[in-house]
Amino acid sequence: MKILVIGASGTIGSAVTEALDGEHEVVKASRTGEVRVDLSDPASIEAMFQAVPELDAVLSTAGSASFGPLDSLSDEDFALSLGNKLMGQVNLVRLGRKHLNPGGVITLTTGILAHNPNPHTVILTMINRALEGFVESAALDMPNDQRLNGVCPPMVKETAEKMGWGPGGVPAVDIAKYYLQSIEPGSNGRSFGPAH
Ligand SMILES: NC(=O)c1ccc[n+]([C@@H]2O[C@H](COP(=O)([O-])OP(=O)(O)OC[C@H]3O[C@@H](n4cnc5c(N)ncnc54)[C@H](OP(=O)(O)O)[C@@H]3O)[C@@H](O)[C@H]2O)c1
Repeated sequence: MKILVIGASGTIGSAVTEALDGEHEVVKASRTGEVRVDLSDPASIEAMFQAVPELDAVLSTAGSASFGPLDSLSDEDFALSLGNKLMGQVNLVRLGRKHLNPGGVITLTTGILAHNPNPHTVILTMINRALEGFVESAALDMPNDQRLNGVCPPMVKETAEKMGWGPGGVPAVDIAKYYLQSIEPGSNGRSFGPAH
């Protein structure tokens, strides 16, 4: 398969590209990657799809959003988060389905905070649940036998270490397996991860 990975240089994305390499033709994208894209800019998403034709799969392992309790969040925090992690990935589907090969599959990234809310995750919990709803409903209307799935990663071990959150978390190499499952034939509108 020819697979575009957006966020390929990240903690999860680099584990995903490593898992795919060798078996598949992998094209790596991010704001500074071999293919340049900014998820928050629909024109740059369209330009990416024009530059990388005939894709069998698109895996999004990107998407930023702000942390913090409700009173600390500004209008900008909401606007940036909604425009990036939510609408950036929604626009990947809106624009990508016109370019994806028949039978192709798109996978978006949500996150465990959809199901484990706390006062600091109000934006991420909201966006992750919105993405799960988008995946379930938009999957019913994909053209040309295309499919749409999500991966809901738990906390990543490498991220927990980097952030000083302690010894918990799941290694990125194990989280990459959910992305591989999401592109296997058959599934549509599903979320993959330990919470599903
Ligand atoms: N890490 C965790 O514990 C965890 C848990 C649950 C869910 N998640 C979700 O998983 C996704 C990836 O997390 P991660 O920890 O792997 O992130 P990360 O290590 O910070 O990597 C982010 C990747 O996305 C790219 N990127 C950032 N902003 C972008 C933009 N506007 N347009 C295109 N590419 C962009 C980055 O490269 P450039 O800088 O070159 O653009 C990088 O390749 C996020 O949606 C996150 O919410 C993470």
